[in-house]
Amino acid sequence: MPASSMDDLVALCKRRGFIYPSSAIYGGLKGFFDFGPMGVELKNNLKKAWWNHMVYQRDDVVGLDSSTIMNTEVFNYSGHLDTFSDPLVDCRQCKGRFRADHLEKPICPQCGSKELTDPRPFNLMMKTTLGPIEDPSAVAYLRPETAQGIFVNFKHVTDSMSVKLPFGIAQIGKAYRNEITPRNFIFRVREFEQMELEFFVKPGDDEQWHEYWVDQRIQWWHQQGLNPSRLVKFEQPKEELAHYSKATVDLLYEFPHGLEELEGVANRTDYDLGSHSKEQSELGLTANVKENIHSVSRLALKGDQNEWIVPYVIEPSAGVERGILAVLHEAYTEEDLGDGKNRVVLKLPFHLAPIKIAVLPLAKNNEEIVKLAQSIVSKLKQAPIGWVVLENTGSVGKSYRRHDEIGTPYCITVDFDTIGQEGNPLLKDTVTIRDRDSLEQTRLPIDQLVSFFMNKIYGA
Ligand code: GAP
Repeated sequence: MPASSMDDLVALCKRRGFIYPSSAIYGGLKGFFDFGPMGVELKNNLKKAWWNHMVYQRDDVVGLDSSTIMNTEVFNYSGHLDTFSDPLVDCRQCKGRFRADHLEKPICPQCGSKELTDPRPFNLMMKTTLGPIEDPSAVAYLRPETAQGIFVNFKHVTDSMSVKLPFGIAQIGKAYRNEITPRNFIFRVREFEQMELEFFVKPGDDEQWHEYWVDQRIQWWHQQGLNPSRLVKFEQPKEELAHYSKATVDLLYEFPHGLEELEGVANRTDYDLGSHSKEQSELGLTANVKENIHSVSRLALKGDQNEWIVPYVIEPSAGVERGILAVLHEAYTEEDLGDGKNRVVLKLPFHLAPIKIAVLPLAKNNEEIVKLAQSIVSKLKQAPIGWVVLENTGSVGKSYRRHDEIGTPYCITVDFDTIGQEGNPLLKDTVTIRDRDSLEQTRLPIDQLVSFFMNKIYGA
């Protein structure tokens, strides 16, 4: 069973170095969180798994890393300046502000007053100013989605890489939204990361590719440990679609606070490339003249028949923080070990676990045992296993508890048998490997450790 409550997860994340409230020593900052030593590893591992699946395992996707602050015209032509808003209501009594669509009744959730204003649109983009003079011309926006960086680089990528339709451009990066009511831990925050693919296809092939990407994304989330029974598809009703979308399928996950969106897979048609093509920049005109195609969009591409088309785009867009929350929720397990003992264990898939192996010397002051443990760590670090650590606390029980709670799949104990001091010569130069999930303990010669773990990881 996953974690019973969000509180369990929040407490574990803080206790074990996954996620801390941002600026905590000054009272925090609503909607912002920091990832600690375990959290950053988990996050990197999830992003690596996404990049591997979306880029390296395919022949039709390339990557990009674009800037997070963009020319205001980008958001003008993308439609975000006009339409990227949530409905906001103010409470006339307590002056609280709320998202109208999050209120179950027209009553202030803070003070209970019925004195609410009519809803009005509130643009979610975060503003900043560039340069030394703070006048309206200095205003710039932090991107609310990574996607726009891909669209405005479409021509750069197609000019510099040999890509042919259908093909995709993938990007992982920060996005910012001035959410009216950030809430539910890292589920709705103001600064987060997105893993987005813009997959360009021929118009007419879009619906088929849309279905394909929905299936791909569901399979990928299963590989990250999400139980299929807690992940469902939801076709957004027409009236709820974003301004750019012809159809969107949300992947909803059963989070601790309820069934909510983990990822959206949208059919954005030619909306974005088409809109940006309306802007007649110098670059656009030059490109058109060079190609002798004055009448067509500068973001067009040649199709099979050598005709010029503006591609449609299918966009799987997942939030990293929501992914982390889902993965943690799924992995969190409380187990009754009998005899009044229990444990909390994070049953993360191996590839997501922050630490892969912890090596524990049984006696922290026994020089021979500690040296041997250090040499095992060095040997394992040379193999492509991931993060291997020495945990020399002197209390194996305490170390097991900590490593269960951070999801370390294997602990290796170096004991007196290993150094031949316990009377059983057959056990000399062997160590105990403890499996996090089954709690099985296996005794193995030190010189077989690398091949044992390589078999476990790569199955060869
Ligand atoms: N480019 C399309 C796009 O941005 P979206 O549905 O607004 O679409 C995509 O966002 C994903 O980004 C969501 O499914 C969610 O995982 C994540 N996301 C959006 N807003 C978020 C927020 N305030 N906090 C955390 N994650 C968020």
